[in-house]
This record gives sequence, C-alpha cells and structure tokens, in this order.
Amino acid sequence: MDLQGKVCMVTGGTHGIGRAVVERFAQAKGAAIIPCDIDDEPFDELRRIGKPIDPHQLDVTDVDNVTRTIQKIRSSYGRIDVLVNCAGTTRDAFVHKMSDDAWHHVMQINLTGTFHVVRSVAPFMIERGSGSIVNVAATIGLDGNIGQTNYAAANAGVVGMTKTLAKELARGTASVRANAVAPGFIKTRMVDSIPPKVADGIIARTPLGKMGEPADVAEAVLFLASDAAGFITGQVLRVDGGFTG
Ligand SMILES: NC(=O)c1ccc[n+]([C@@H]2O[C@H](COP(=O)([O-])OP(=O)(O)OC[C@H]3O[C@@H](n4cnc5c(N)ncnc54)[C@H](O)[C@@H]3O)[C@@H](O)[C@H]2O)c1
Repeated sequence: MDLQGKVCMVTGGTHGIGRAVVERFAQAKGAAIIPCDIDDEPFDELRRIGKPIDPHQLDVTDVDNVTRTIQKIRSSYGRIDVLVNCAGTTRDAFVHKMSDDAWHHVMQINLTGTFHVVRSVAPFMIERGSGSIVNVAATIGLDGNIGQTNYAAANAGVVGMTKTLAKELARGTASVRANAVAPGFIKTRMVDSIPPKVADGIIARTPLGKMGEPADVAEAVLFLASDAAGFITGQVLRVDGGFTG
C-alpha cells in the first residue's frame, strides 16, 4: 500500500494513535505528511522521522485557527488528499456526576473539532474530485461504556458524520471517500489511567488476549486512506482484538 504523491493531514498527530499514523504513513513513502496538533512540543522529534513531515500547530476547537491552518497547507501544497481526524480526549464520570464542562470539553474536541476540520478540507477534495477522510472513532461509540457518556456520544456522532460524508461527498463527479476506524482499548496515554484490575478485565474479554498497539490502528487507517480501499466508503472498521463491550 502506498500513498505516492498524496498530501496527508493528520490531526492529533503528535501522540498516541495519530503519531503512529504519521510514522506509518512516513514508511509508506511518497507522501507529504502534515501532523496537526495543539501540542507542538514534539514537533522537532516528528520532523526527524523524515523530510516529508511538516507539522503545524492546530486546535481543532478554534474555527479561525482551523481555517487559517488549512488555507496555509493548501497554499503550500496545492491540495489535501488524505485527512485523518485523530485529535481526541476523555473526561470520564458517571452520568449523574458529569459536569457540563466535562460533557462540552469532550464533545467540543472529539465531535465538533472533527466537524470543523472536515468542513474546511472537504471543499478542496470536492474541487479536485477525489480524497479520503478517515475518522478515528471508538468501539465505545458503537457499544457504550460505563463512565463515558460524553465520549460514547461524541464517537457515535463521529460515526454518523462519517456515514453522512460518504453519501454527501461522493455525489456528481466527486469520489471523495469517508470511513472510520473504531479502536478498542489501545495502549496510549488515554488508557494509562485505567486501574490495573479493570485493564485485566478488558484483556480477559478480548479474544486476542491483549490491548492493541497504536501501530495496529495505523495499519487500518493506512488501508482506508490508500487507493487500495478505493471502492470502500461509509464503513466503520473495528480494530479491537474482537473485544465486545
Ligand atoms: N487509546 C484508545 O484506547 C482509544 C480507543 C478508541 C479510540 N481512540 C481515539 O483515538 C484518538 C487518539 O487517541 P489516543 O489514544 O492516541 O490519545 P492521545 O492522548 O495519545 O492523543 C490525542 C492527541 O490529540 C491531540 N489533541 C487533543 N486536543 C486537541 C485539540 N483541541 N486540537 C488538536 N489536537 C488535540 C493531543 O495533543 C494528542 O496528540 C482519539 O480520538 C480517541 O478518542 C483511542
């Protein structure tokens, strides 16, 4: 699978799954990779992965910042062929204890942030008549999870958004695709706070007997982003070792 000649933007590209996507895209060769993240501290490290990596600071919740950054990328590269939406966060609590702030914070980054970026990038893809959007959702958005009403709702929203984009962006002469991956439990800092007893329970309920690595998700993202998935759109691919919620 290659991304020859493609310009690939990856939000949340500094840490965890987004970072693994950037590293995997860099191995695929031939692509310009643009990690975009609110945290610019690791940008030098990212640049050292290879020449075609050009990080940009981006806060997906800030509409002006999103618009300006995407215009800047467009004027430097002329187009965006692949968009991976990976920026995300959690703020867990039981529903009766969840603050408005915790609800809005997660919705704002995981769902509204994805919308902001898609809204800005989609017109360029439509204009070129091609493109591939891969949204990183979560199995929790499909199955639910105790203590994560906000996160489950945001990710269910991302799934609905993806299916709508698949219909809306493939009309007329445009063949812009939109798919989602739904990771289960993946070893990033996002799951660091899971108590060991709960983590053991998750592993016990996972047929493949372990948590996933960020690289496992990156492989699925690469497939959906690439032309190898050229007739696949509107799909949600679970990357969860068979875990059932
Ligand atoms: N780790 C898991 O088990 C898991 C499972 C399912 C889905 N996911 C999803 O995968 C995505 C990545 O999660 P992760 O586990 O790699 O977590 P992570 O915390 O390691 O990475 C999240 C990235 O998003 C960036 N980010 C946060 N707020 C941002 C903002 N406002 N604007 C731009 N960037 C921002 C962070 O700086 C970070 O680089 C998230 O959408 C998450 O919901 C993770």
